Amino acid sequence: MDMQVVPARKGNYNLQDYEKLRESFSWEDVKKNFTWNTTGKVNMAYEAVDRHATDPAKKDKVALLYSSPEREESMTFEQLSQESNKFANVLKKYEISKGDRVFLFMPRSPEFYAAFFGILKVGAIAGPLFEAFMEQAVRDRLQDSEAKLLITTPDLLYRVPLNELPKLEKIVLVGGNKEDTNKFIDYNKEMKEASINFSIEWVDLEDGMLLHYTSGSTGKPKGILHVHNAMIQHYATAEWVLDLKEEDVYWCTADPGWVTGTSYGIFAPWLHGVTNVIRGGRFTPDDWYTTLEKNNVSVWYTAPTALRMLVSYGEEAVKKYDLDTLRHILSVGEPLNPEVITWGLKAFDLRVHDTWWMTETGAQLIVNLPSLEIRPGSMGKPIPGVEASIVDNEGNEIPPNQMGNLAIKEGWPSMMRQVWNNPGKFESYFINGWYVSGDSAYQDEDGYFWFQGRLDDVINTSGERVGPFEVESKLIEHPAVAEAGVIGKPDPERGEIIKAFITLNDGYDDTKELLEDIRQFVKTGLSAHAAPREIEVKDSIPKTRSGKIMRRLLKSWELGLPTGDTSTLED
Ligand code: PRX
Repeated sequence: MDMQVVPARKGNYNLQDYEKLRESFSWEDVKKNFTWNTTGKVNMAYEAVDRHATDPAKKDKVALLYSSPEREESMTFEQLSQESNKFANVLKKYEISKGDRVFLFMPRSPEFYAAFFGILKVGAIAGPLFEAFMEQAVRDRLQDSEAKLLITTPDLLYRVPLNELPKLEKIVLVGGNKEDTNKFIDYNKEMKEASINFSIEWVDLEDGMLLHYTSGSTGKPKGILHVHNAMIQHYATAEWVLDLKEEDVYWCTADPGWVTGTSYGIFAPWLHGVTNVIRGGRFTPDDWYTTLEKNNVSVWYTAPTALRMLVSYGEEAVKKYDLDTLRHILSVGEPLNPEVITWGLKAFDLRVHDTWWMTETGAQLIVNLPSLEIRPGSMGKPIPGVEASIVDNEGNEIPPNQMGNLAIKEGWPSMMRQVWNNPGKFESYFINGWYVSGDSAYQDEDGYFWFQGRLDDVINTSGERVGPFEVESKLIEHPAVAEAGVIGKPDPERGEIIKAFITLNDGYDDTKELLEDIRQFVKTGLSAHAAPREIEVKDSIPKTRSGKIMRRLLKSWELGLPTGDTSTLED
């Protein structure tokens, strides 16, 4: 089959004519879909939950369809509204108010979503943490955000270094409690006593709503602040890109610890009142298929790493399942291999639609729309209302077919509003009116964007962004490690794996046991996905004269590429 292009299929898509909409488009029109457009009263939790809960035609519709290996449960919009009201009352009782940071560190569960909307209902800022984070990752985020309250489980509590978190006043424990009731709050007990009525805190569109930490190439993870206004873009992209309709059953596989798991695992489907499948735990290929089949999923948003896993599991497996309801598949987080698109056509008779965006952008920006042809390997075109381009380092646009910085014209609705505690970092993203993404790409003559790689040292392993600095810092905490340089090494299944180069302190030998011990040290101290899969011992780590690790040089060595300009290398 000719993989040059995959033509659009005929279908009743929400968005038929991309070019026409681009021309006539205004974000003002999208705003008409929201209650606040007429009442002036704003809160994401109202638009995503309470609005449907107070609509007699919608209130008994299933909002959340939850399953994990241990538990299955569903919640209607009315139930989700009441449960989140109860949690909002609990938060209020413990004096959480507008602007406070409240973090969630727990597995996906119905309680997570009730608590999440409870946080928004009091006007506080929610900070979801990935459940696999270990002590250092948890500490860095809670310290930087000065979180006042944390919701977690007794099992995860050992990873929360309480004595290093003076600003953390209370901890809500889901499923058990501790004796110290000055510090600990029993979720189940409080929820039993809490009223199902709550008067929501109305906020401004520009008020903080969500804090997601993400990695850069230098320094600790940065807190990316999103505001309620982002809902405008979540709503619009759910319609055009996810192609969501009233009767759909939607599944986004991402954990809410990552931005995809909030923007598209929470907001996008629920703003449209669509039934949302939530699946906790780890997955085998058969779990993916079973979840799709059992829930009659019609729209599925996932990641290349998961799709690649299914490709290697084989086409035969697909035939064991009845996936007739599935009509639309999307992908995000890493380059989508053309092979996956070929496979999707064979295995599901469906196209896989790539989407490009970032934690900082809050919502999809460059996408493959159902009504456009797919050019395998391309991320697609910018959504209506968004201008994307390729710019040079001064922020000047450059012609088609030339590689440069992938950049977005400032001012789309879901753009981050702050890097927490770090205004300088925030400013550094913008040049000459463009948000510069850190990705390199080119644009073809027809306006399709083609991803080429990261321009900085950020690693993308299985779709998860890892900052080399964070891993290096952890590595050198190990008594055997003197210096460390960390890079992403290309890998067919994971996109990149983390490879660490280290030097050893005197008295330590380069043994298999030691390297495994160092790997475990990162895994248990930081998080599993940040642990290097490969560690190589060197006599020295290349550094610039100013002491910066030359990761680029390490990478060139690793890949056997020319080393380029090494004039700044220290002797
Ligand atoms: O390098 C790009 C890659 O993931 C980065 C953003 O990561 P994160 O903030 O964790 O957000 C991921 C999900 C929104 C980008 O700078 N990336 C994301 N989508 C794609 C991608 N690379 C290639 N193709 C994509 N579709």
